Amino acid sequence: MIHKTVIRFLRLALIMLVAGIFFGVIGGIQYVFPVWLKNILPFTNIRPLHVTLVISWIFTAATAGIYYYLPRITGEPLFSMKMARLHLVLLVITTCMIIGCYFMGRFGGREYLEFPPWLAVPMILYWILFMINYFRTIRRKFFRVPIYLWMWSTGLIFFLLTFAEAYLWMIPWFRDNIVRDITVQWKAMGAMVGSWNMMVYGTGFYVMEKISGDDKVTRSPFTFFFYFLGLTNLMFNWGHHTYIVPASGWIKSVSYIISMTELLILGNIIYFWSHTLSKARKNFHIVPYRFLSAADAWIFLNLCLAIIISVPEINYFTHGTHITVAHAMGATIGINTMILLASMYFIAEQESPVFVSANFRWIRAGFWITNISLLLFWIALIGAGIVKALDKNHDTLFQQMMSRLAPWFGFFSSSGLVVFAGIVIVVVPLFKIFSTRSPVAEASKKLTKDLL
Ligand code: HEM
Repeated sequence: MIHKTVIRFLRLALIMLVAGIFFGVIGGIQYVFPVWLKNILPFTNIRPLHVTLVISWIFTAATAGIYYYLPRITGEPLFSMKMARLHLVLLVITTCMIIGCYFMGRFGGREYLEFPPWLAVPMILYWILFMINYFRTIRRKFFRVPIYLWMWSTGLIFFLLTFAEAYLWMIPWFRDNIVRDITVQWKAMGAMVGSWNMMVYGTGFYVMEKISGDDKVTRSPFTFFFYFLGLTNLMFNWGHHTYIVPASGWIKSVSYIISMTELLILGNIIYFWSHTLSKARKNFHIVPYRFLSAADAWIFLNLCLAIIISVPEINYFTHGTHITVAHAMGATIGINTMILLASMYFIAEQESPVFVSANFRWIRAGFWITNISLLLFWIALIGAGIVKALDKNHDTLFQQMMSRLAPWFGFFSSSGLVVFAGIVIVVVPLFKIFSTRSPVAEASKKLTKDLL
């Protein structure tokens, strides 16, 4: 049985996803027709609307999963359902206010957190509520716990730290020195990505354990080795975001070496590739497994790209081009969104297996449409990035560069529209199942009616 508050978190996450991509599509069209909607919703407003909502989707879907899974892991109810409700209320109010500010063009923050800085206060507040609820619920399980509890705990703590760090610019000592200011800002944002990755990957591990029924992997030293590797990257690899800032050389060298430890993760994926492939073929009919397999393929592609652009000589050309955008969207859609959709379908299957299997063809179509168009979308961004990087090297006239970029932008915008369609197709059954009061009873009732 799923709690009302958890269902509301799930629904809110799905609304954020669809609304967020909708604004992304508008932004994509503005790439091709820059004057379209310029007076009502210029790109400067659309971009933060899109980015804030899709990042909120990641956090909210991961949060919903944690609230759903925790009582099932501990065998006890959540420490405080009231606290979870308050978390939800504060989250809804803050998100609406942020969206309102963006629509009205009221900014004041820094990149990715462009809303007026006072809105960070309710965000910190609901995060602390979430942390108290989480740690009080797992308090007796704190030792000998599976990897996903470690990952969720790390993600929760590091989000609070990095979020606070992203507001250090409000202190004059940081703000008044441009090098210090940019370094701290980019460091905070880079590490914040690591914090939500921990929450999402933890969710992936939980779902994998439950699908396979094998809890050895989530407790094995091998998995913990990769957890600590990920944690080291979370804490130190942000340096590749700051190569172009004239900060201390040793910081760049250390973070470059740490970034390259990701080669171990890549090696691990390649080493187990054939094993993963045969397992995927066998289990592809299981909907959450299908999404997890897609995330696996996207991890491989994005890791290759990340390792290439972490090389300082290459980073000099790719920084600020669409290759960085490809890296960001490839990871947040291909990896994070795929894992979170796996988690949502896992919850849906727990609540109503009949409903999910009755909608299998529809979900399968959405899955393929999303992934194939996403690959084209990603290639289009890399293509645009290469054109820009080459032109940066040759000091080409802006006008000439834009005309060379135009076909790539058209390709990006149209494939983005198909990504949107694919995700909507995948999300519709989830909306249906999470909109009924008692998913199991309602879905079975509907299915019986359909069969009759
Ligand atoms: C789940 C789906 C999506 C996620 C998680 C996502 C995530 C992101 C992120 C994190 C960024 C910031 C990139 C950066 O700063 O480098 C971004 C930018 C952007 N996204 Fe998406 N995105 C999604 C879907 C889409 C779709 C379907 C489109 C349609 C064309 C789109 C269009 C854009 C545009 C135009 C930008 C701004 C790029 C720029 O600053 O030049 N996104 N997205």
